[in-house]
Amino acid sequence: MGYWTDRVLPRLTERTLSTPDIRRLRAEVCAGLHGRVLEIGFGTGLNIPVYPAVVDQVDAVEPTDVAWEMSARRRAGSRVPIERTGLDGERLAAADGQYDAVLSTFSLCTIPDVERALREVRRVLRPGGSFHFAEHGLAPDRRVERWQHRLDPLQRRLGGGCHLSRDIPGLVAGSGLDVVEVAAAYLPGPLVSRPWTHGFVGRAVKR
Ligand SMILES: C[S@@+](CC[C@H](N)C(=O)[O-])C[C@H]1O[C@@H](n2cnc3c(N)ncnc32)[C@H](O)[C@@H]1O
Repeated sequence: MGYWTDRVLPRLTERTLSTPDIRRLRAEVCAGLHGRVLEIGFGTGLNIPVYPAVVDQVDAVEPTDVAWEMSARRRAGSRVPIERTGLDGERLAAADGQYDAVLSTFSLCTIPDVERALREVRRVLRPGGSFHFAEHGLAPDRRVERWQHRLDPLQRRLGGGCHLSRDIPGLVAGSGLDVVEVAAAYLPGPLVSRPWTHGFVGRAVKR
């Protein structure tokens, strides 16, 4: 990883993913989390303020040291104990069925082998456990979708591997989890921003 990915991107991401609209999505996706939770692509800890009171412990998987360090103040103020337990969502150290819930916000776009990461999510969830996701991805409009595919190579280079065109609910369903809720919409903004602003908030369950 280079200077851009390691040092600049976590700061840029922190800023772009802290808008009031996105803070609302964070609160929505974290509702219902409880017990022992794994968060993949923890970033700078922007979900910490909205972890519900019934969460007992959060294990964080985050490859970027700068992002983890940037989360220090939020972690220090957190009621929930948070421990960094891994660096890669594709290879989790956790035992099978260890978690009540797994959380991912704006990380499935970036994890290189997202299918593998989702198989890991399913493996570490207990039966009945749930995967909560808020992610951007594939737009329903052909015109926007075409732009997403056109822009993807540039986005991947500048966005630390971020893809615009991943079909997140389809990928989650493909991992064997049952998608029980999903809302899809564009965030408010100009038409030109639509390749970046189409997203999903959802929940999937391990039967
Ligand atoms: C766009 S940021 C989102 C950060 C955070 N989830 C949020 O909502 O603010 C994507 C995150 O995925 C992390 N990431 C990249 N590759 C990963 C991997 N293989 N496993 C876990 N996380 C990864 C990045 O380091 C980054 O923190």
